[in-house]
Amino acid sequence: MNVVFLGPPGAGKGTQAKLLAERQGWIHLSTGDLLRQEVRAGTPWGRQAEGYMKAGRLVPDEVVLEILRARLPSGRPAPNVVLDGYPRNLLQARELERLWNPEVVVYFDLPEDLLVDRLTARSSCPRCGRVYNRLTHPPQVSGLCDADRTPLEQRPDDRPEAVRTRLEVYHRETQPLLDHYQKKGILRRLPASGSVEEVFRQLSDLLSGMADPPRSRGGPARPSLGEGIL
Ligand code: AP5
Repeated sequence: MNVVFLGPPGAGKGTQAKLLAERQGWIHLSTGDLLRQEVRAGTPWGRQAEGYMKAGRLVPDEVVLEILRARLPSGRPAPNVVLDGYPRNLLQARELERLWNPEVVVYFDLPEDLLVDRLTARSSCPRCGRVYNRLTHPPQVSGLCDADRTPLEQRPDDRPEAVRTRLEVYHRETQPLLDHYQKKGILRRLPASGSVEEVFRQLSDLLSGMADPPRSRGGPARPSLGEGIL
């Protein structure tokens, strides 16, 4: 199944996508993670992207698409793939549809004050990518990664001024995608304010309901993807 995670910064998309990968073997493609790798490696794409990312603005569409294009799995049998952080605007959505067919778009719905709290309390391990949160998921030893004891870092775009810009960009550029996917009938809303495990349970139920229609178990036909969501 091809799934897109859509939602504001800090809504928990990366956390849930990593759990799907660890526990259920999904392929997790995060354009934010891919871009951060390019920045760390100092590649020409990374050098182009870095300033935009620090400021909380979107990296130019052609850079992100080029980075993503090489990684979108194709071939049979199709694996379960979750695309996290792409598309971010209508142009990207249209480009994506030429390459890959999103079957379900999960919208992570969370009030704005919680987003800001989550982002400003986040830290991550620069070596293994594990993500922590001072308030909700602290490391065992303050400031150090549980897995490899590397000092944790705050993302430059989690500073308050960059967070403000990211939220503005989200409302202006990305939020219109909700309408786009709603019209296509593939949008599903996920309430994202519960604990990590609660959200994961709801997400797993939602996805297994899509992958395993009742009809195949002899039950009534499931609602079509076109039958509303929000
Ligand atoms: P990206 O890395 O995609 O950032 P984002 O979309 O802003 O999302 P975040 O990673 O900030 O949040 P999240 O929803 O994944 O939350 P998380 O799970 O970490 O993009 C970064 C930048 O790259 C962009 O600004 C842009 O410059 C560029 N970029 C990326 N894609 C692009 C594209 N397609 N086009 C152009 N530019 C692009 O959780 C947040 C915190 O909350 C963590 O501390 C976590 O531990 C905690 N938490 C998570 N879930 C819960 C929960 N249920 N309860 C309590 N705490 C929780």
